[in-house]
Amino acid sequence: MNLGSQETTIFAIWTGFQFLWLALRSVFYHFGQASDRIFHQPIRLRKDWKMVPTHFKLRIRRVIFALSKYQMHVHPRGQYCYEEDVQSCDTSYNMQARFILTPEDLHRGEVTLSVVSIVGDTLLSSATWLFGSKLSGMDLYDSCIVILELNSTTVAIPSARVLSGKSPGKLSSWPSDEETGMDPQFPPRGGSNTGRDITWWYWISCGEGKWLQTHTEDMRFLGKRTASIVSDEQVTKKLASGELLVGISEVGHVHEIVRNSSVGSEVLQNMLC
Ligand SMILES: *[C@@H]1O[C@H](CO)[C@@H](O)[C@H](O)[C@H]1NC(C)=O
Ligand SMILES: *[C@@H]1O[C@H](CO)[C@@H](O)[C@H](O)[C@H]1NC(C)=O
Repeated sequence: MNLGSQETTIFAIWTGFQFLWLALRSVFYHFGQASDRIFHQPIRLRKDWKMVPTHFKLRIRRVIFALSKYQMHVHPRGQYCYEEDVQSCDTSYNMQARFILTPEDLHRGEVTLSVVSIVGDTLLSSATWLFGSKLSGMDLYDSCIVILELNSTTVAIPSARVLSGKSPGKLSSWPSDEETGMDPQFPPRGGSNTGRDITWWYWISCGEGKWLQTHTEDMRFLGKRTASIVSDEQVTKKLASGELLVGISEVGHVHEIVRNSSVGSEVLQNMLC
């Protein structure tokens, strides 16, 4: 079997699944509302989440986690990209909009992070889908929440991450002659990868045009990570060079991803309460 065509099939299944979700949800709400009108049922289909009994909440959460797991399984990026993402969570997160830099951090130009866990796009999109949010799997493609241990408290920050098809060690040699014309510099979203040399690049907002920029080592991110403090301009410079081989090319895209991560995080957070 040809690997290229196999990856295309996986992408087709994954995309098809996104559309199937959308269709099923529309059908559900269509008939849900129609039967409400026709039969004047006292049972409301759209209940306030706070009024849902605990055991039902638990079941709905299990459905979301199962959907997330399923998406990881068929994701065009490959399941191996999702090994460190959380599969399920029981309590709501202590959300924080941004990482707060101290003057000492700024002076050093880098920060040592203690990464506790990562909520990836599959869990976010499963939650937004089930709760009827407009955000689709594609809108959350590069979204995530990074959960950090900070000053002995755990905080969760909506962030951005993209999967680069290049190992950080090979970036400095860019552009090299042997690679000229080999890869598109800005491959579109939804592509697959070879599984070799891949790296997640993360951007955590610090506000005021500053970011923490860091990446996985051998696809490992949990634990201690050094992140450099970079500016909007530096992020754009890195993306615009095309060296990461990702679909985005400027910091505006990173801002947008983080905004969508925040919307997704709110939905997920609500579901965990
Ligand atoms: C963010 O979500 C909106 C829909 O609300 C979508 O139009 C946009 O493309 C998304 N942004 C990214 C970077 O996916
Ligand atoms: C961490 O905790 C110490 C003592 O509790 C406090 O003085 C300091 O401001 C805290 N740092 C941050 C970044 O919150």
